[in-house]
Amino acid sequence: MRELSSLTEMRSWSRAERSRRHTIGFVPTMGYLHEGHLRLVDRARELADRVIVSIFVNPLQFGPTEDLARYPRDLPRDRQLAEARGADCLFVPDATAIYPGEPLVRVIPGAVADTLEGAARPGHFIGVLTVVAKLFHIAEPDVAVFGRKDFQQAMLVKRLVQDLDFPLAIDVAPTVRELDGLALSSRNTYLSPDERRSAVALSRALRTLEQTWRGGEADPAKVQRAGLEAMGVPNVTAEYCALVDENLQPVSRVTAHTVAVVAARVGKTRLLDNVVLGEGIGADPRVTR
Ligand code: PAJ
Repeated sequence: MRELSSLTEMRSWSRAERSRRHTIGFVPTMGYLHEGHLRLVDRARELADRVIVSIFVNPLQFGPTEDLARYPRDLPRDRQLAEARGADCLFVPDATAIYPGEPLVRVIPGAVADTLEGAARPGHFIGVLTVVAKLFHIAEPDVAVFGRKDFQQAMLVKRLVQDLDFPLAIDVAPTVRELDGLALSSRNTYLSPDERRSAVALSRALRTLEQTWRGGEADPAKVQRAGLEAMGVPNVTAEYCALVDENLQPVSRVTAHTVAVVAARVGKTRLLDNVVLGEGIGADPRVTR
C-alpha cells in the first residue's frame, strides 16, 4: 500500500493508475478506522480496480466548541487496518496542505443542509462539502463510497456531485452495527461503560419507530412520539427524532420509504442513527467481537 501526504503526488498516483486503465474507488474518512469504514473499503474494491482511503480530520467541519482537538487518532493502527483490507493507497494530507490559509471560497449547500444535523451544527455541511469537493479534485476517483449512517451527509454529497457536475459516481453502503444494534462510530470510543449501555437507546428507538409504523400508525407526530419515548433513558438526551423523505423533507404520512433519523447526546457524546422504515435495521451488517 502506498502512503501519500502530498496533494500533487496523490493526483499523479491517481492519473498514473487511470493511464493503466484502472478505475479508482475512493473512501474519504477522518480515521480511527472501524469495521464501518472497512466495509466501505470492501465495497470500493467491488466497484473499482484500485482503492484510495483518505484520513483527514477536517477542521472546517467542526464548530468552535466541538471535539476537533480530542477527535480520536491512531495512524499506525489505521495504516494496518487499511492495508489488511486491501486499500492500494492511503492519503493522509496535513491540514496546512489542504488549507494553506482560510479558504475564501466554500461549497454552500441549500436549505436542506440547515435542518437536522445542519441545525444542530451550524456550518457543518459547508465544511464537509468543501473538503469532499477538494478531495474529489485531488484523488479524481471514478466512484466514492459513503456510509448510510450519516444519511444527510450522503444525500448532500450526492447532490454536490449532481448539481456541480463532478465526474464520478456516489455509492452509499449500509450502516454497520454492534451486535446489540449500536451503529459503529469513531466517537463511540468516548463512551464510558455506563454510557455505552445507554447508547443502545438510539437503535432501540429506530426499532420502536419501525414497529409503531408496522403496527398501522401512519401519523408522523405519533410515530415520532414513540421514538422519543424510547430514547428517554438515563444518560441520553434526545436532540431530534424526525420522519423524512429521501430529500430530508418532513413527511405528512409515514410509509415504507420514510427515513427515521435520530440524534442524541449520550453523556457528552453526540450520536446519530437512521433507518428506512420499510427496510428496518435487522438486515444491517453486524460486527462480532
Ligand atoms: P467519518 O466519520 O470518519 O466517516 C467516514 C465514512 O464512514 C462516512 O461515509 C461515514 O458515513 C462512514 N461510516 C461511519 N460509520 C459507519 C458505520 N457504522 N457503517 C457504515 N459506514 C459508516 O464522515 C466523515 O468521516 C467526514 O464527514 C468526511 C466525509 C470524511 C469528510 O470530512
